[in-house]
Amino acid sequence: MILAIESSCDESALALFDPARGLVRELISSQAAEHEKYGGVVPELASRMHLSALPLLLADFRDELAQAKTIAVTRGPGLLPCLSMGVTLARSLALARGLPVVGVNHLRAHVHSPFIAVHAQDPAGFAAARAALLPHLAIVVSGGNTLLVRVDERLRLTVVARTVDDAAGEAFDKGAKLLGLPYPGGALIEKHAQQGDVRKFVFPRGIPEKADLRLSFSGLKTALRYQLEKMSDAEVAAAMPDLCAGYQHAIIEQLVAKAGAVLDLGGYRSVGLSGGVANNRTLRARLTDAALRRGLPMRVAEPKHCGDNAGMIAFAAWADVGLPLGAAVAPAASLTVDQV
Ligand code: KG4
Repeated sequence: MILAIESSCDESALALFDPARGLVRELISSQAAEHEKYGGVVPELASRMHLSALPLLLADFRDELAQAKTIAVTRGPGLLPCLSMGVTLARSLALARGLPVVGVNHLRAHVHSPFIAVHAQDPAGFAAARAALLPHLAIVVSGGNTLLVRVDERLRLTVVARTVDDAAGEAFDKGAKLLGLPYPGGALIEKHAQQGDVRKFVFPRGIPEKADLRLSFSGLKTALRYQLEKMSDAEVAAAMPDLCAGYQHAIIEQLVAKAGAVLDLGGYRSVGLSGGVANNRTLRARLTDAALRRGLPMRVAEPKHCGDNAGMIAFAAWADVGLPLGAAVAPAASLTVDQV
């Protein structure tokens, strides 16, 4: 059994994973409402909130704690003052209970998160079920990253496409801010877009050349700013659904085009989607359609495993060959954040 701790940004989370059964328990405490007041995550505030939330979550895990044989913790990427809180708790628990501690890369965990449901369906048959899906194209779209990653038969990861500037989630959040919507604005843009017409406002598609696998979202945000400068507040309010629809469409079309270009190079047997932006229903539908049209099964991470969560950290500590249990084990007291 693996007890995992996640504290890379503004969610404090704990999860317990049993390889024979799946995720036994997951708890998450979100700070989003607090950071909304400041229009973004304040690292110092976030780390203080982890300091108070993590022990409360741990107290809630008191009954299951004795079953944990390994402690897993997010080692990065993330905000250093926040990561330190989780790593300190992991090291303390490991030291007190004489357990090994494994550091998990947050992005690798996102890559593996669509496989949590594959494991849950049939834990005993997981190895064969996953092998049938490899090589796999993992599309990771979060607030901090946008990556298309090839996962080969030996679970080696290769980044095949990435953004050269803003992440997709960042584009949603910065666009939302320009539109006067609260942080984080991705879900609100999606909500307004549902009533909008994607043809009313046409925004640029980053790097449109099919052969160029790089993604870019910063020009899109500038285009929105220029568009809004031409409009009065009342016009913006009236056109909010159409503005959101056009803006969201430009983000999604770029992701669908680049994912399609990568898949057309061949050699994939499945596609995965994860990260906070994977909550977007239009994106899920468009990418699922792109995969199915190429005859490939699509695996989308469950909504609770799209944003930051400890379930994916526990799962990756077990399922990712890049993190063999035991290899990262060292005397807990001698580990630094980077080494964990
Ligand atoms: O994975 P995550 O927690 O990102 C990082 O912390 O890096 O996801 C947060 C991101 C935010 O940018 C948020 O606006 C975006 O995911 N997001 C969405 C939706 N729900 C969350 N973006 C578009 N549509 C959504 N429904």
